[in-house]
Amino acid sequence: MAPIITIDGPSGSGKGTIASRLAGILGWRCLDSGALYRLLGYAAGQAGISLDNADELARLALDMRIEFRDGQVLLDGEDVTLAIRSEQAGNAASKVAALPEVRAALLAWQRACAVEPGLVADGRDMGSVVFPGADVKIFLDASAEERAQRRYKQLIEKGLSANLQSLVAEIRERDDRDRNRSVAPLMAPEGALIVDSTALSIDEVLERVLDRVYQIL
Ligand code: C5P
Repeated sequence: MAPIITIDGPSGSGKGTIASRLAGILGWRCLDSGALYRLLGYAAGQAGISLDNADELARLALDMRIEFRDGQVLLDGEDVTLAIRSEQAGNAASKVAALPEVRAALLAWQRACAVEPGLVADGRDMGSVVFPGADVKIFLDASAEERAQRRYKQLIEKGLSANLQSLVAEIRERDDRDRNRSVAPLMAPEGALIVDSTALSIDEVLERVLDRVYQIL
């Protein structure tokens, strides 16, 4: 079984950045599981499927042809890298992610990513549901205001439009939905190192995570 590091946390906590930096340092594969839910939310919009139609969404999840290639995300051959990063796609993702049928449909695809020499997986339930036997578990948190600021900067840098006030409100709403859903709610898995990144730089967070990784691996 390939070694696995899971990084869970709310949106904007920096888990995606830390996961890809860590995967780069170790030379391991990286799984951005949030992108799967974003892809499904986007694909549902394209196909005109309602975000609460669990059976149709689960079928769509199984049929989607997904490729992650050199930083690009392809859906059935179409480059959707930018399209799935909008706040609208994030909100659609969090709605479809609350459906147990959807989560079950995406489970095998995620587990198949655990290949040698190792996998760094980031999301909400990586350490609790998808890879409960992971070697190292990290939970990254930060205040909602700080996370909204970071998202604002990212969106502006990507040339997308953004409004800070509505980002704070959307982040709170999404957190609430992710933490309080009945299936695979966002939580720190047992045994996880909890890092609050509100007042830390990316390098400081990475240093703490690496300390933990080298202690265990
Ligand atoms: O991490 P990201 O913001 O891209 O995730 C988008 C949404 O997908 C989250 O708000 C969450 O509802 C859902 N998600 C999830 N489980 C994961 C990863 C993401 O439910 N493992």
